[in-house]
Amino acid sequence: MVDTNFKMSFKVRAAKKEDCKDISRMIMELAVYEKMPDQVNISHKELERDGFSPNPFYECLIAEVSDENKTKDGYTIVGYALYFYTYSTWKGRSVFMEDLYVMPDFRGKGIGKGLMAKVAQIGVEKQCVRLQFSVLEWNKPSLDFYVAKGAEDLTAKEGWHFFRFDGQALHQLAKEAPED
Ligand SMILES: CC(C)(COP(=O)(O)OP(=O)(O)OC[C@H]1O[C@@H](n2cnc3c(N)ncnc32)[C@H](O)[C@@H]1OP(=O)(O)O)[C@@H](O)C(=O)NCCC(=O)NCCS
Repeated sequence: MVDTNFKMSFKVRAAKKEDCKDISRMIMELAVYEKMPDQVNISHKELERDGFSPNPFYECLIAEVSDENKTKDGYTIVGYALYFYTYSTWKGRSVFMEDLYVMPDFRGKGIGKGLMAKVAQIGVEKQCVRLQFSVLEWNKPSLDFYVAKGAEDLTAKEGWHFFRFDGQALHQLAKEAPED
């Protein structure tokens, strides 16, 4: 049971390359929570390459607590928000938050809001006009969290569906591209 009255101090900072093992650990924890751990096919190596080389594909913030509040396994990095920039042809610069996660014992203490607010601040500083993300339909606590913070459910409001080409379908499509 999370004691929501107990406020714990935490710091939100930009992730560094050496944080990728912790990010990778929490990506798996989030995938377990989302009931799809077998879909994770990425390790800290790809995270290091894709986030910490020239022209990175993503940016990441981590939430860190003091040593005295570390987890029983000794972790002080207890949450993360991974995001990247996209573009709306209707509105312009946008930021997409791919993951937001706080470890169970640290929820209800303002850490998730702190991470998301920092993503918003970074986006606004870059003149982004939207912060978008997707949420699984059954994830009611998180849906409620986002709505409570002022986000709109676009599927309910405008009927958008979230699509993907993956694996064989993606490769098949790529083969059908016209010659340069
Ligand atoms: C969703 C999640 C990131 C929220 O982080 P958190 O640290 O627990 O939330 P916070 O303590 O920062 O919540 C801050 C605010 O949101 C409100 N809030 C939190 N959970 C809420 C809920 N289920 N319903 C309504 N409001 C909620 C709090 O009351 C608080 O409000 P305040 O700012 O007015 O005081 C976290 O619970 C989590 O990691 N969940 C599991 C993974 C997940 O679902 N991630 C999102 C995938 S889309």
